[in-house]
Amino acid sequence: MPNTSKKTLISGVKPTGRPHIGNYFGAMKQFVDLQDSGKYDCRIFIADYHGLNLIQDAEEMRRLTLDLALDYIAIGLDPKKTSIFKQSDVPAHTELCWIFDTIVTMPYLMRAHAFKDAEAKDKEINVGTFNYPVLMAADILLYDADVVPVGQDQKQHIEYARDIALKFDNIFRSETFKLPTDLIMESVAVVPGTDGRKMSKSYGNTIPLFATREEITKAVMSIVTDSSGDVPVNVYNIHRLFRPESELRPLYEANKGKYANLKKALVEDIDAFIKPMRERRAELADDPKKVMRILKKGAKAANKAAAKKLEAVKKAIGVI
Ligand code: TYM
Repeated sequence: MPNTSKKTLISGVKPTGRPHIGNYFGAMKQFVDLQDSGKYDCRIFIADYHGLNLIQDAEEMRRLTLDLALDYIAIGLDPKKTSIFKQSDVPAHTELCWIFDTIVTMPYLMRAHAFKDAEAKDKEINVGTFNYPVLMAADILLYDADVVPVGQDQKQHIEYARDIALKFDNIFRSETFKLPTDLIMESVAVVPGTDGRKMSKSYGNTIPLFATREEITKAVMSIVTDSSGDVPVNVYNIHRLFRPESELRPLYEANKGKYANLKKALVEDIDAFIKPMRERRAELADDPKKVMRILKKGAKAANKAAAKKLEAVKKAIGVI
């Protein structure tokens, strides 16, 4: 698998619920496209330890983890080309996180957007949430990643990973880490939800990626439209993910003010797009053992790479 002429790509998704089309267009589709470009050694993982901040029920965690593995394969991730694994199967992630914890300061973490948002909501914040960017830096830096495909909301986390890499090498006078770059596609950096805000599980404005036709219809009908213009902007902004704008413009022109027609057309387009993936996923779901084997194989490859890096880290800090 590892090929030195190729760049390394890493990314992950939290198993905290059904992925939505914002996750897909913002990040997961890029995982598949970049895998198929043949230019990267790809590692895509299930960020279960990040998810543990939210999912604190063993059965639910098991179910959501298997679900996300199915999702990954159904969208086209190919275990022959990409190592797909669970973060918790590679203990080096949490070990490196601890090492970073000793050099990262609390005021620095208090500046993280996610922490500030949680604080603004007056939540009782657990240490795992506070420490989230540090574990994420470990996820990325362990594999000498060159690129990290993500949506806009993760940009700051990649900056944190770079800062932490530089700080480590500065303190320990080493050249241990490579500086990663985020890979954010501008046109889909922030996919809007049914209410026009960023699509997000926590806003309840999502269209699930593997939605049934009924679910698609329900979500599309709930898209917020205002009657101030001819074009329902929130409908259009989701529609452009599924059909080229050159085709959309005449359609919207011909249906000025006819929001119901446009919503129906959007339902058709989303359903046509999702259907083959939904069917592939249903087939895969019949053989969960096969999926678990894929995760184990991916973990083996990841552990091998991670152990090598961790050894270099341990030498740099002087524990070996
Ligand atoms: P998560 O699970 O919240 O989201 C997965 C990916 O989906 C992107 N995304 C969006 N992109 C565009 N528009 C939207 N509305 C939208 N909503 C979500 C996210 O930006 C993300 O890329 N912290 C990460 C998981 C993680 C990770 C990592 C990622 C843990 N370790 C290391 C990369 C590298 C997260 O919470 O993603």
